[in-house]
Amino acid sequence: MRTTRPLLPALAALAFLALPAARAASATHALMKQQGCFVCHAVDVKIVGPAYAWVAYRYRGDKTAVLHLADKIIHGGAGVWNPWTGGIPMPPHPTLTLAQAEAMARWVLAQKPVAPPKP
Ligand code: HEC
Repeated sequence: MRTTRPLLPALAALAFLALPAARAASATHALMKQQGCFVCHAVDVKIVGPAYAWVAYRYRGDKTAVLHLADKIIHGGAGVWNPWTGGIPMPPHPTLTLAQAEAMARWVLAQKPVAPPKP
């Protein structure tokens, strides 16, 4: 079929483009593990901090979310999730660069959003 012919190169190009993005995401995941983010956070359940799926839900469609979350990751803080955390603050991570913190924020926001349960 003539129409399917351009599909293969297009798919190859797509795979080629998707690969570095996937690698960057897994590098970010590795950095998050190394930084201890998963001591207090999991994707699906609250540990000390909110589940990342809840964070993705809260900020869905929010264009300022990457910057807000990157700032929170670097400087720490409390208040947003108090009803779920009892006011425990997120600790600061001052050694991270803004680019690293933004990559982590994007990783969190890319999780499948789940509405948090009533606190
Ligand atoms: C000691 C426990 C702890 C560690 C370690 C920790 N967090 Fe948190 N995190 C929290 C708590 C508690 C909150 C809720 C803060 C609030 O209520 O504003 C939070 C909130 C967040 C939020 C949502 C912020 C908001 O304003 O909605 C993100 C995103 C996040 N953490 C990412 C990370 C990342 C990435 C790391 C690793 C670099 C990390 N956390 C390490 C405890 C932790």
